[in-house]
Amino acid sequence: MTMTVLVGSAAVFTLSTSTFNREMAVTEATLIDAPVRSDARAWGGLRLSEVRFRSIRAADLGILHSFVHHLSPETGYKRLLSPRTPSDDELRRWSAIDPATECALVAVVGPEDQEELIGVARFVVESPGEADFAIVLADAWQGLGLGRELMSRLVDAARLWGLRKVRGDVLATNTGMIALARRSGFAARRSGIVSTLSLDLQRQS
Ligand SMILES: CC(C)(COP(=O)(O)OP(=O)(O)OC[C@H]1O[C@@H](n2cnc3c(N)ncnc32)[C@H](O)[C@@H]1OP(=O)(O)O)[C@@H](O)C(=O)NCCC(=O)NCCS
Repeated sequence: MTMTVLVGSAAVFTLSTSTFNREMAVTEATLIDAPVRSDARAWGGLRLSEVRFRSIRAADLGILHSFVHHLSPETGYKRLLSPRTPSDDELRRWSAIDPATECALVAVVGPEDQEELIGVARFVVESPGEADFAIVLADAWQGLGLGRELMSRLVDAARLWGLRKVRGDVLATNTGMIALARRSGFAARRSGIVSTLSLDLQRQS
């Protein structure tokens, strides 16, 4: 069996699933590195096509630290469902991920030697075929289409990993995330102050 992989705007090649591995799925020529699907919106002179998407690296600890420490309290709360700030140990763990069980995509802008991290989407495989996801954008980049783009790439990666289900808990009041998830094909089920978002990848085309 083979799968088609988009590389850049035009090139397409196929991979044998028997030789395909997860690390390749998130670090090399994959859908994640494909051009953005829509470039209709421009933000402060920057277009979505100027945002780069790639897998997180251990060397991103510094930009991840800066990103997290510049989030508004509201955004930080929505991400962690808590007012706490992540510890340095957590940030280290979130940048030096275990590629066997975790996928983390970052959105960055700026020159390659001075990148600014503006968004992170990740999933962690919690049980065979199932992963928990989370996503957070810098405040200035919210509401502009970037979440949809990053989420779409994360779902592509989950599919490439062969996952059956992706899920995540968010505050039931987090209308932005719930709207984005629904538009990405997720179902939302509310239980008290939390809504569980889940995407059955086996039902997706
Ligand atoms: C949630 C979040 C990732 C969404 O990303 P975003 O870039 O702001 O969302 P987008 O601009 O891509 O919008 C995606 C869709 O949701 C809709 N949407 C976004 N915010 C909305 C809101 N508050 N109410 C209704 N719809 C909303 C948009 O209209 C858009 O739909 P469209 O593509 O059909 O036009 C981002 O706002 C964020 O980082 N929030 C803080 C952290 C967080 O809540 N994380 C979730 C918990 S893990």
